[in-house]
Amino acid sequence: MQRLIPTLRKDQVDLELLMLIRTILAATKEISFRVSQGALGDVLGSTLDENIQGEQQKKLDVIANQLIKNMLLSDANVRSIASEEEDDVVAGDPDGRFIVAFDPLDGSSNIDINGQIGTIFTIYPAKPSLAADDPAQFHQTGRSQLAAGYVLYGPSTMLMLTTGKETRCFTLDRTHGGFLLTNDKVAVPEKTAEFSINMANSRFWFEPTQTYINILLEGEEGERNKRYNMRWNAAMVGDIHRILVRGGIFLYPPDKRDPAKPAKLRLLYEANPMAMLLENAGGAASTGTENILDLETSDLHQRVPVIMGSAEEVEFAKSFYK
Ligand code: AHG
Ligand code: MN
Ligand code: MN
Ligand code: MN
Repeated sequence: MQRLIPTLRKDQVDLELLMLIRTILAATKEISFRVSQGALGDVLGSTLDENIQGEQQKKLDVIANQLIKNMLLSDANVRSIASEEEDDVVAGDPDGRFIVAFDPLDGSSNIDINGQIGTIFTIYPAKPSLAADDPAQFHQTGRSQLAAGYVLYGPSTMLMLTTGKETRCFTLDRTHGGFLLTNDKVAVPEKTAEFSINMANSRFWFEPTQTYINILLEGEEGERNKRYNMRWNAAMVGDIHRILVRGGIFLYPPDKRDPAKPAKLRLLYEANPMAMLLENAGGAASTGTENILDLETSDLHQRVPVIMGSAEEVEFAKSFYK
């Protein structure tokens, strides 16, 4: 099995970008170990603090954020850092070539129930004219991402990564501590009969989502001539990993619960990296009316409607959102 570095060298990945990816993965290996320890690793439970999202921070949100942030601050090539758990941009090296955004712990509500959780990360080129502490460093579209990936802390710890070409999957070999290439060309099935949405929100959905989901529930006699199954992991990394492996459609559409925040998922460190992974694996990622990757980030924590997965199903879903 091929290791990470030779795989990335074959893809002609810039050496300093490659070293930065390794730096991030070093932190995720530590998180993977702490997560596998569970209560024994003192990583369960919540803190008394609330993050800028208005969520109560879990201990592991904070631990994972600190681990990754400290690793990044030790890398001279990192100019600016953005995190779900940091209110503002964190300044790194004033001459760094890259900027990094991450969701240190995705699926926080799964931590205490030993469910699927993960780390999502994305790397962009720094804007040479802007200072390290300028949030406008991140005012780029998802198409500018140099690398995007996640580490899924499941029964096995897996890295899903794209550096612009294929989407590849690696599995952490705990015997020698390296990520080994286990799928060198991830391909999302074009069609699917599996959808992923939090049905508990259905009474708050806007009409397009109601209409689309009702069609999926019609079964073999319905418009789609097939029975759909449903999965909801409450962790985007788990749902998107399933879709990258066997297809599906994942939706977090806008709803009426909080008019100030109709959408839930964050563009910079959730939707964009997942969209790049999916598109480079033949999948699709839309807000319903625009490609996720075409949106320019204007606020570090801005939220966006998400419809992503098997290309044919995403196209069908989009037909209801004008
Ligand atoms: P995070 O734990 O990083 O805040 O993200 C949670 C997100 C995403 O991972 C998941 O798909 C979604 O929130 C689950 O939302 P519900 O709890 O509303 O189902
Ligand atoms: Mn959160
Ligand atoms: Mn998240
Ligand atoms: Mn998170």
